[in-house]
Amino acid sequence: MIYINQVKNTKSIEERNIYPYNIPSIANLNELTLQKNVTFIVGENGSGKSTLIEAIAINAGFNPEGGTRNFNFQTKESHSSLFNNLKLIRSAYREKDGFFLRAESFYNVASEIDKLFEFERSKQDLYYGGSLHERSHGESFLALIQNRFSGDGLYILDEPESALSIANQLSLLVMMKDLVDKNSQFIIATHSPILIAYPSADIYQVSENGLNLVNYEDTEQFKLTKYFINNHQIMAKELGLV
Ligand SMILES: Nc1ncnc2c1ncn2[C@@H]1O[C@H](COP(=O)(O)OP(=O)(O)OP(=O)(O)O)[C@@H](O)[C@H]1O
Ligand SMILES: [Mg+2]
Repeated sequence: MIYINQVKNTKSIEERNIYPYNIPSIANLNELTLQKNVTFIVGENGSGKSTLIEAIAINAGFNPEGGTRNFNFQTKESHSSLFNNLKLIRSAYREKDGFFLRAESFYNVASEIDKLFEFERSKQDLYYGGSLHERSHGESFLALIQNRFSGDGLYILDEPESALSIANQLSLLVMMKDLVDKNSQFIIATHSPILIAYPSADIYQVSENGLNLVNYEDTEQFKLTKYFINNHQIMAKELGLV
């Protein structure tokens, strides 16, 4: 199921020297078509992925710092004004579940969950498999997805790989497939060459002129990782490490 079909930028851009329109990819974004159950957004550090994905999430009703639609905690006022100017074209079907998960503020989401279930620990065990603070970063990330993502859902993830070992990134792919089979849509910003291998996903490359669809094997992640692994000794020399 595709819940968000398209993202349109409705603003005529005059503020090219002010965040977020000083980011070329955001200034040049007109519309983004989402037609697959899994859409990835890839690009260099600072290219605007989090800014965009956060604005999509806020428009879809999520808390800017992450969580479900019922989370309204705020630890800082740092989200951009981009969400005011984005328009989401949504399908007639509404998702039953949803989560905005950002690696950056996962700690605060875990604290918020502890607080919400302060007097209902058995419910927390049921929904989240216990406190997320009492597991390692990667363990708690996977536990959240395993226990809390129930399908028929819209899941917006920002760098989910950052907590995960390579093996657990493979586990995440399997969990995603299971959730896609249960009518879910994922929108994911990532640097992971593993996650973007999800079959038949759309991959948008963020660049100065906006966002463009790319094939898996044409992504920087794929090409550079492949080159590095096949030539790590040569590269160590090229980088002046030896
Ligand atoms: N609150 C803010 N105020 C001003 N500038 C910001 C703010 N947040 C981010 N920026 C700038 O906007 C640009 C894009 O940031 P963004 O976080 O969207 O990048 P990103 O593609 O997610 O990068 P990364 O891969 O490192 O997560 C960066 O140059 C950053 O310095
Ligand atoms: Mg980011």
